Amino acid sequence: MSNLVWTSSFARGLNGSMRVPGDKSISHRAVMFASLADGVSRVSGFLEGEDTRATARAFAQMGVRIETPSASERIVHGVGIDGLKAPSMPIDCGNAGTGMRLLAGLLAGQKFDTTLIGDESLSKRPMRRVIEPLARMGAKIDSNEGGLPPLRIHGAASLRGIDYTLPVASAQVKSALLLAGLYAQGETQAHEPHPTRDYTERMLRAFGYPIEFSAGHARLSGGQRLRATDIVVPADFSSAAFFLVAASIVPESELTLLDVGMNPRRTGLLQALRLMGADIRETNAREAGGEAIADLVVRYAPLHGIDVPVTLVPDMIDEFPALFVAAAVARGTTRVSGAAELRVKESDRIAVMARGLRALGARIQETPDGAVIEGGALHAGEADSTGDHRCAMSFCVAGLVAGGAVRVLDCANVATSFPGFFELAGTCGFVLA
Ligand code: S3P
Repeated sequence: MSNLVWTSSFARGLNGSMRVPGDKSISHRAVMFASLADGVSRVSGFLEGEDTRATARAFAQMGVRIETPSASERIVHGVGIDGLKAPSMPIDCGNAGTGMRLLAGLLAGQKFDTTLIGDESLSKRPMRRVIEPLARMGAKIDSNEGGLPPLRIHGAASLRGIDYTLPVASAQVKSALLLAGLYAQGETQAHEPHPTRDYTERMLRAFGYPIEFSAGHARLSGGQRLRATDIVVPADFSSAAFFLVAASIVPESELTLLDVGMNPRRTGLLQALRLMGADIRETNAREAGGEAIADLVVRYAPLHGIDVPVTLVPDMIDEFPALFVAAAVARGTTRVSGAAELRVKESDRIAVMARGLRALGARIQETPDGAVIEGGALHAGEADSTGDHRCAMSFCVAGLVAGGAVRVLDCANVATSFPGFFELAGTCGFVLA
């Protein structure tokens, strides 16, 4: 456990205008596809987080030249679809489930063997969900007992396309299949129980790869090539989320978040917060690099509890830690269900948020697939993020409205997705020490 502890205290209003760092999901994929493309691609707005840097390092280990002309910029000299070279060491995905699951699909189609390792949290996350469908395609992947990392991926397998219906809504599983599908004989199809983020599909198309897709379905055939292109990464909605909740619950707040990615498969929290009474306006809606973006203006508004619509869950899957904080200080009861996936994220987010918020006086009951949260006042206390970046930032938000200082434990992993959170939050009125 890291001993980085932050203390978050009562705030008197959050104000100003800010741009949170680049989207994590898009940054991972931009480096992957640019590496596999023919030609040179520029990625602007790249997230300088530990997760996405680990992915860039993975491709550098496999022979891809990646330049960093300035922070948040990458110039990727693509090696072509068959140009990756065997890495001399295991590839360390750090904390990143996206990195490991997408790489598993991609590496299953290579001629060489690879091993994927991760940090303590990633080493406990389920990989069978990708191993099983990839094995059906002909991949040979060994794991530790129970489908846990490290993953040992044997090269030179001949893959064949499959038609696969995902048992859980997961963009990572869908993407792993599509990436393996690039190297498979014939057609690969993925059907989802609920549509998930479609960045893999959209970006493959942007790189000139023939793919058909619609909400909940994607289909491609192997054996085609990718053409280099430039990618502009929008600000990450999931990072903006902490500020959307913070400004909603701290009286006298008005914050503007610039250039936020507004892909509908990511913005479920916006709808949930509006159902709770939040005052969030979208302005300057436009497109950048093929993605919808907008500036979001959020003002303080008294929130009330809701039953979070189950249909919104996949569209806000990364935002529940923040939502739990909003619910803990809203008037009345909030019920979350259909969100069992939260138990296999960077931590068991239902348990970690319930324990941490209870330590601050909140009344929360866990259920197997969600929680029942009674809104009320929070007091001073100590909340353990257990090294989960999103839980750490959420507890910092809780501290802004607590009756006394909130000590947030184990904050170092905030750097996996949101480098500079501490400083940026300070500029708009968070009281962090
Ligand atoms: C992601 C997909 C989601 C999400 C994660 C990023 C992606 O995971 O929680 O933060 O970039 O594809 P699942 O596929 O496990 O739902």
